[in-house]
Amino acid sequence: MVKVNDNYLKLPGSYLFSTVGRKQREYQAAHPQAKVIRLSIGDVTQPLAPAILDALHKAVDEMGNAETFRGYAPDLGYEFLRNVIAEQDYKAKGCDISADEIFVSDGAKSDSANIQEIFSLDNKIAVGDPVYPVYVDSNAMAGRTGSYDKNTETWSNVIYMPCTAANHFAPEIPKETPDLIYLCFPNNPTGATVSKTQLQEWVDYANKVGAVIIYDAAYEAYISEPDVPHSIYECEGARTCAIELRSFSKNAGFTGVRLGFTVVPKDLKAEGVALHGLWARRHGTKYNGAPYIIQRAGEAVYSPEGRDQLKKQVAYYMNNAKYIYDGLKEAGYTVSGGVNAPYIWLETPNGMTSWEFFDYLLEHANVVGTPGSGFGPSGEHYFRLTAFGSYENTVEAVDRIKAMKI
Ligand SMILES: Cc1ncc(COP(=O)(O)O)c(C=O)c1O
Repeated sequence: MVKVNDNYLKLPGSYLFSTVGRKQREYQAAHPQAKVIRLSIGDVTQPLAPAILDALHKAVDEMGNAETFRGYAPDLGYEFLRNVIAEQDYKAKGCDISADEIFVSDGAKSDSANIQEIFSLDNKIAVGDPVYPVYVDSNAMAGRTGSYDKNTETWSNVIYMPCTAANHFAPEIPKETPDLIYLCFPNNPTGATVSKTQLQEWVDYANKVGAVIIYDAAYEAYISEPDVPHSIYECEGARTCAIELRSFSKNAGFTGVRLGFTVVPKDLKAEGVALHGLWARRHGTKYNGAPYIIQRAGEAVYSPEGRDQLKKQVAYYMNNAKYIYDGLKEAGYTVSGGVNAPYIWLETPNGMTSWEFFDYLLEHANVVGTPGSGFGPSGEHYFRLTAFGSYENTVEAVDRIKAMKI
């Protein structure tokens, strides 16, 4: 008789955003007049930039013409896109990455979930705490994380690296040696970053112990400070220990369009085996490529007009981030993030739990945010607000929070 993958049965329910949504709906039903503002979800709200729309329209027309129609895309992605990524995201920034080390995909969520497949189940993973949940859940589905403890909300076979105010929300090298290390900077949910020197320490460590770093740089476009690395390949030695994930979701508003890429340098080996070949094999077998139309839209992200328009879009969100950050500080909150990332991470006032503050904020300011505890135990007593709303809603939400008694 058929059996299920019982690793799935060990997964805790996707409690966080479903509970956030349910609580908001219940509140709205009980208070139909309330204008509830959501600063909870990490989704963009601004429309696609004109340069991207033009590229999409043009590519759609090409698909309707026998001479320019395209079928399956090449396994790694179209060269026109991989070349421009290699040039502008890497070579122009002094990183030694070539187009044939770039694998185009439908986004960083699937890549961050799938990348673990090319590694043995014996590997032990290390993650920041709090963390983007996909890294842990995908390893749990594969059977790499041991058993789940409901009380501590942790897996027995995962190394958690607490990211707290004491370490400025940057994980420290763990006592136990991991095999796979997930790092995400700028970070979701804390908005924290690391300096190039700090990231170099991770690269040196990974090379020393023979670990691989999965570096999620989905929020790279939001970096505003000069000493914050945009890519792990800015660090010496990263070609032999790091895989980098990138997304078009947050820099170009592609959350509903879907495009991303993963970089696997050819020098990166495990047990003498080049991981590039394994990921290429996986890509070729399990994936038929991001659509031509979307890859053309991705190319437009790198055009002079596209770059200019998207810079303004990112600036729009970061203006919101600054408004939230400054407003909360003024109101007496302890706040971080929001400078190199569209997320503001605040300490809940008066020792409230993350969920207590969620309820308080919904009731007293009609604002919805995300409880930090939903991202891991070290997120307890913290709260995430996003800068992805409209400016008008952001201003109103912050003004209401400032007027709220705490
Ligand atoms: C850290 C991080 N990585 C990856 C993703 C997913 O990106 P994509 O939309 O490209 O799948 C997100 C989305 O919120 C994220 O926060």
